Amino acid sequence: MEFEKLIRERRSIRAYKNEAVDKKIIEEIIEAAQQAPSWKNSQTGRYYVVMSDDKVKYVRENCLPEFNRRNTANAPVYIITAFEKGIAGFDNDKNAVNELGDKWGAYDLGLQNENMILKARELGLDTLIMGIRNEKALREELGIPDSQEIAAVISLGYRNIDPDAPARKSIDEIVKYF
Ligand SMILES: Cc1cc2nc3c(=O)[nH]c(=O)nc-3n(C[C@H](O)[C@H](O)[C@H](O)COP(=O)(O)O)c2cc1C
Repeated sequence: MEFEKLIRERRSIRAYKNEAVDKKIIEEIIEAAQQAPSWKNSQTGRYYVVMSDDKVKYVRENCLPEFNRRNTANAPVYIITAFEKGIAGFDNDKNAVNELGDKWGAYDLGLQNENMILKARELGLDTLIMGIRNEKALREELGIPDSQEIAAVISLGYRNIDPDAPARKSIDEIVKYF
């Protein structure tokens, strides 16, 4: 799909069809994530794919607030995204290279996640990035180690709604040229 069309078509989707997603598609999407640039190619992004009926139900009911639960009610897959701390943004002696420290890990994960959601759209699927989620419950249920920071829960599935694009700020509001 042409890139311009892809980025315009992608939307945060808050209603899904009750339709399973093939594991091969999930692999393709994560492979796309893995092509993103990262700090010294450190590739600290980690993915926890929840796709069995019982785990999907558990994550939905115990790890998401009511509105995210409702909006992803039929989503067949949740991908929990995390990154290994203390690597991106750090030197070999484990010292932060600058003031951002572990935020560089979050930066890298964001780049990966964008690749992932765009690849999903290219393959005819949709996503919702959810930053409002229960970190403790996710860590416990999925056995995510303390060495990793948990970022978003991303729902994945087939859209059952075609929302309008939310307005964007004008270029003038966000850019300064020198
Ligand atoms: C880091 C991050 C966290 C988000 N968390 C939530 C969330 O918890 N629930 C939700 O409904 N949308 C969430 N969103 C989706 C945004 O609301 C959405 O991207 C924005 O309104 C623009 O809409 P669009 O994605 O369709 O372009 C999140 C998006 C990002 C990037």
